Amino acid sequence: MIPYKNNQNRDDIDQIIKHLPFSFDGQRVLITGVAGFLGSWLAESILTMGGTVIGIDNFASGTIQAVEHLKSVGNDQFTFLNHDISKSIDFVSPVDCVMHLASRASPFEFVPYPIQIMKSNTLGTMNALGIAKRHGARFLFTSTSEIYGEAQLFPTPETYRGNVNVLGIRGCYDEAKRAGEALCMAYFRQHEIDVRIARIFNTYGPRMRADGLYGRVIPRFMDQALHGKSITIFGDGTQTRSFCYVTDQIEGLLRLCTIPAARGEVVNLGNPMEITIQELADHIIHITHSKSSCVFEPLPPDDPTRRVPDITKARELLEWSPRISLKSGLRRVCDSLKFQGDE
Ligand SMILES: NC(=O)c1ccc[n+]([C@@H]2O[C@H](COP(=O)([O-])OP(=O)(O)OC[C@H]3O[C@@H](n4cnc5c(N)ncnc54)[C@H](O)[C@@H]3O)[C@@H](O)[C@H]2O)c1
Repeated sequence: MIPYKNNQNRDDIDQIIKHLPFSFDGQRVLITGVAGFLGSWLAESILTMGGTVIGIDNFASGTIQAVEHLKSVGNDQFTFLNHDISKSIDFVSPVDCVMHLASRASPFEFVPYPIQIMKSNTLGTMNALGIAKRHGARFLFTSTSEIYGEAQLFPTPETYRGNVNVLGIRGCYDEAKRAGEALCMAYFRQHEIDVRIARIFNTYGPRMRADGLYGRVIPRFMDQALHGKSITIFGDGTQTRSFCYVTDQIEGLLRLCTIPAARGEVVNLGNPMEITIQELADHIIHITHSKSSCVFEPLPPDDPTRRVPDITKARELLEWSPRISLKSGLRRVCDSLKFQGDE
């Protein structure tokens, strides 16, 4: 597992903040899934900007290390509730914004935990929307590029309606996120909740878990390369993905949940630079100076052939586009892992 360290990624946090045309000073933000990869980066950015964060997590895939350091970053402006958001919650503290991230997100988790995933994105989304409704707060839902399924249009715009196998093993995630989006729009139309939906494409960065079920492709390859193990590619490596560095993603999410024109909108957030999984493995072997070689295992069912976002809407509505190249982002991940090795 990749641990969290105080101020280890302070340059990255500064990078996010310096590009934002607003601050969170005095804002009270509720983040579900705060002990996960993106939740922890969001919380740290908001606390650094002077906001107050109330974090909820049940440690399904998150870690205590992700929240431990936030108290010191936020000068006690951080509080934490250990709670499963798919269960009802009597939440009384006033908040200005609710960011609903709570959901297992690694494809390896789809097999053992499909019901938890569906509950987090349906019942959990309803519970989180209920809190936003009670307090008149803005609401950010973290949806996914997975709602496009095996897309047939590239780069894929928000208007593409998707090609999902409802009954397949990825259905629990894809369809739960689609239901979560529909719930957001229902609350937007019926209760005029100020909702904003992010369709997040593969995002990576320091602090992402590399272990077991939780290891998504970049931390897993990086961990294998750094330890001289074989790099496991599922399929023949010709499938493509587009990888967004975490500071770019967090800047996009903060813009989406703040900019007034984004009310009621769904926006793709990702880096449109598309590469094959084989090319990704080659980059990681090169950057880590590893002697590892690749081994090939069967592709899981319904693994998408291509993933590349059309980010025209994000460019126009949020004045956002990614700044960090894949090579630079991979080097930062590699450096952060080496730094931890030095501890
Ligand atoms: N990182 C990506 O590339 C990516 C891509 C698309 C969408 N997303 C979405 O962004 C969100 C955050 O993803 P991440 O990469 O940080 O994943 P993560 O697994 O690191 O974080 C998810 C967090 O949610 C918590 N959680 C899960 N179920 C919960 C529940 N019922 N109640 C309370 N807490 C719960 C987990 O313990 C974990 O801390 C997820 O909703 C995910 O679907 C992420």
